[in-house]
Amino acid sequence: MLRSHFSRLKSVTSYLAAILASSCLACALYAADPIAPPNYDEEKVPQFTLPDPLVAPDGSKIETPEQWREIARPRILELFKTEMFGQFPEADLSKVKFEEISTKPDALNGKATRKEIRIYFNYPEKTPKADLMILIPNNAKKPVPAFLMPNFQGNHTTTDDPTVTAVDAPFRTRNANEKPDDVRGVAKSRWAFDKIIDRGYAVATVYYEEIEPDKSAEFKYGVHPLFTNFDITKDDYPAVISAWAWGLSRALDCLQTVPEIDATKVVVAGHSRLGKTALWCGANDERFAAVISNNSGCGGAALSRREFGERVDRINASFPHWFTKKFHTYGSRVNDLPIDEHELIALIAPRPVYVASASEDLWADPKGEFLSCFYADPVYKLLGTDGFGGVVAPPEVNTSVGATIRYHKRTGKHDVTDFDWEKYLDFADFVFGR
Ligand code: GCU
Repeated sequence: MLRSHFSRLKSVTSYLAAILASSCLACALYAADPIAPPNYDEEKVPQFTLPDPLVAPDGSKIETPEQWREIARPRILELFKTEMFGQFPEADLSKVKFEEISTKPDALNGKATRKEIRIYFNYPEKTPKADLMILIPNNAKKPVPAFLMPNFQGNHTTTDDPTVTAVDAPFRTRNANEKPDDVRGVAKSRWAFDKIIDRGYAVATVYYEEIEPDKSAEFKYGVHPLFTNFDITKDDYPAVISAWAWGLSRALDCLQTVPEIDATKVVVAGHSRLGKTALWCGANDERFAAVISNNSGCGGAALSRREFGERVDRINASFPHWFTKKFHTYGSRVNDLPIDEHELIALIAPRPVYVASASEDLWADPKGEFLSCFYADPVYKLLGTDGFGGVVAPPEVNTSVGATIRYHKRTGKHDVTDFDWEKYLDFADFVFGR
């Protein structure tokens, strides 16, 4: 008894010491860091005025769907290219080839067929390449809609299935000595494969660093060298989020070759940096029927002008390769940005979009993510949809709100959970009238 008390006391003491040490470390870090610590206080959010997507720079109003399509949308899309992500690249698509490398007809205890299709981005070169893992329900009577969502650690980390092909090269985020089975299934809690298949959807995933390693700004890796028609000195030179988004478009090309999938009904989804990628991909590639942003935060669904949680200066310092050089100039002057993230949502209109936050994920600014949905609503309405469905205030936690634009804030941390997937499946039923 005494001993257990003592050991508890000892562990509490070392815990406190660890907190003290880490907070001193944080102080030291911030003391030497020109970037201010993140703000988590709603009272300190500055006053700001958002650019109005329905007002042209000369002050004239965008009043019809045609004016949106012909005047406003191209202008805003171009601004996102020059100021933030760079061009959505073009590359020689005749060199993109697909090769089925495996089929397993009895995956998920016989419920699904699993295919692995290797995408060669520069055939006949064997690299760069990425494996798309696809699960398709076995009981479908006709081609099914699908979710396409990239993963962070390799397809083999999304499931315990020992037959899923593991990535064979060390990438930035991987340990060079790692064996596939060290990490097989480690991310499976993020992949509600059974639920998705049971609801009649296919799901496809690809390891994002196979498209392009998450490396700093030399733009020499993965698919980047294929984008030969861009000038690296120009503001709109594609940054790495654009390259990942381009890779997801190639994954959609691949899904178009799979007869069991209805490729006119593919939802592109992503978590965190890959949520930013999904939004940018959906904004450019209008073949995607809908978009899901899970906890995408700064540079994704969260309004930059709120300067809450992660801010533009911080994200540029930590991840300079994600955005254009021009975006780096806005860290201390976000009000000069001619765009904000509600317009990234608006670029997806009239296609449905789902934005999800998490209550403990203040770094991603749940309120800023909600407000982007709110301020995108007028564009969705102009295009004849029910937009955010009259939602005017952030909902209670764990409540999905909206219509063509949807939003929820789940309890818990930065993650993708079964709760999120249940809402995404309901959303997909709405999108596809199922
Ligand atoms: C960091 C980064 C975020 C990003 C996240 C992720 O936290 O600051 O902007 O969304 O990584 O991708 O996991």
